[in-house]
Amino acid sequence: MAAGRERNRYVQEQLHFFQTLIDKVPSPIFYKDIWGCYLGCNKAFEEYLGVKRNELMGLSEIDIVKDPQKNPLHCAISLDISGHPGSGKYETSINHSDGSERNVIIEEAPLTDLNGIAIGFVGVINDITEIRVAEKERVRVSKLESLGVLAGGIAHDFNNILTTILGNIALAKIYGDVNTDKLQRLLENAEQAAIRAKDLTRELLIFSKGGSPVKKVMSIRDLLENTVAFSLAGTAANYELDMASDLFSVEIDENQISQVIGNIVLNAEQAMPHGGTVRVAAENVTLDSVNGPLNAGDYITISIKDQGIGISEKHLDMIFDPYFTTKEKGSGLGLAICHFIIQKHQGHIGVESTLGVGTTFVVYLPAAEVKHKAEEQKDKTVMMSGHGKILVMDDEETIRSMVGDILQYLGYTVDFAKDGEEALSMYASRPYDAVILDLTIPGGMGGKETIEHLRAIDPAIKAIVSSGYCNDPIMSDYRQYGFKGVIVKPYTIHEISSVLRDVMS
Ligand SMILES: Nc1ncnc2c1ncn2[C@@H]1O[C@H](COP(=O)(O)OP(=O)(O)OP(=O)(O)O)[C@@H](O)[C@H]1O
Ligand SMILES: [Mg+2]
Repeated sequence: MAAGRERNRYVQEQLHFFQTLIDKVPSPIFYKDIWGCYLGCNKAFEEYLGVKRNELMGLSEIDIVKDPQKNPLHCAISLDISGHPGSGKYETSINHSDGSERNVIIEEAPLTDLNGIAIGFVGVINDITEIRVAEKERVRVSKLESLGVLAGGIAHDFNNILTTILGNIALAKIYGDVNTDKLQRLLENAEQAAIRAKDLTRELLIFSKGGSPVKKVMSIRDLLENTVAFSLAGTAANYELDMASDLFSVEIDENQISQVIGNIVLNAEQAMPHGGTVRVAAENVTLDSVNGPLNAGDYITISIKDQGIGISEKHLDMIFDPYFTTKEKGSGLGLAICHFIIQKHQGHIGVESTLGVGTTFVVYLPAAEVKHKAEEQKDKTVMMSGHGKILVMDDEETIRSMVGDILQYLGYTVDFAKDGEEALSMYASRPYDAVILDLTIPGGMGGKETIEHLRAIDPAIKAIVSSGYCNDPIMSDYRQYGFKGVIVKPYTIHEISSVLRDVMS
């Protein structure tokens, strides 16, 4: 009797020890008999699935799967190898007690008695939801990067071609008979199409290596107001703008962020084919601790809310993927670009949507540490004439001839070199008031090397670097390389006139 009681107490203690032990394990654990009926589980399992172990005991999957909708366990149970205890590892999704669907890996191992006979099995649930999300993000980024490699590869030729087309159209508009409205209109259409092609190449180039933003500290106010107004001009949608008066400054690439806002606003407008209001708000936010992908610190948030068709839950997960579109004429690149740019700015972009009610995008951008100084705006529509001798170095005959025509029209005299060697010998025999050097000359001396030699001849040389690779480091840091100005191909006649004026004044 006494020995029996003693033994019983020993068993109780062992069981208690065992339960305490598995309750300390943070991963959910369950164990079952060979027929698949639950024998027990740990605390983490109870919390994870929102069940009580005493209610679970003795239930098998057959009991439970009967009413899968009501039973929080139905998903977990269906993973079990019914009635076959053995080792196994499989991935599936189950419903967490908080209602979310989680990606998990279930690992199972057989339980045997002292004689090695199988008496059941034990399983552990490993939650890999976060890992899967991170993986998806990596795949998304690498897809975009491969797109960038392609874009980088064709950018040089493509931008040269566009420069020639745009330049010639501009000249044709100038020299064409102004009285023939029809001709002007045709040329304008051609110009618009070429500008669209130019914008598309720039968008793609953002993904290329070194497509890092060229940032400056500024207030987002004007950018926001201008971009929203511009994007909605001539559409059925109107907008409301609500910006905090004490908005933090941000350190951003102006063009890229304007592209982000433009893309989101355009989507909002397209989601409201019969019109509606786009509400844009900007305010300061301070995060006290790490929040998802964002570090603690000061941010501004820009929210863009529409009253459009909304996005289904099924699609929400895919809208940032390149090429995902539900539009007949969409390329599916708009939001992929936004996502990429915001990530490069150490920010975050999120979305909430209800079908039939509307969608809200929220962009987080880190606040800048220093305040920005207001700077004067340049008018990009004024064409400025000038005079002086200009040397243009470009390997493409069509570009040389087009730039020559434009510069002559503006009042300059022009000479040409097809590569660095030729430019050097020409400059040595006859100094110029300014030189425009193409950055990349296939098979010859390009702009970077040429400027070094030219500065040896004339340290005060007024040189402009030109390239279709708008994100080459030389283009953003041109002064450090000895240039006084920069112009991105394809450029307009107004842009080249203004750069020349700046450099020569
Ligand atoms: N405000 C919105 N309301 C409803 N659906 C939206 C909204 N914004 C994005 N979407 C959905 O996300 C998809 C992807 O958007 P994204 O801007 O990347 O590409 P797109 O607009 O289809 O094409 P484009 O490259 O011309 O921008 C859209 O096709 C649309 O289904
Ligand atoms: Mg879009």
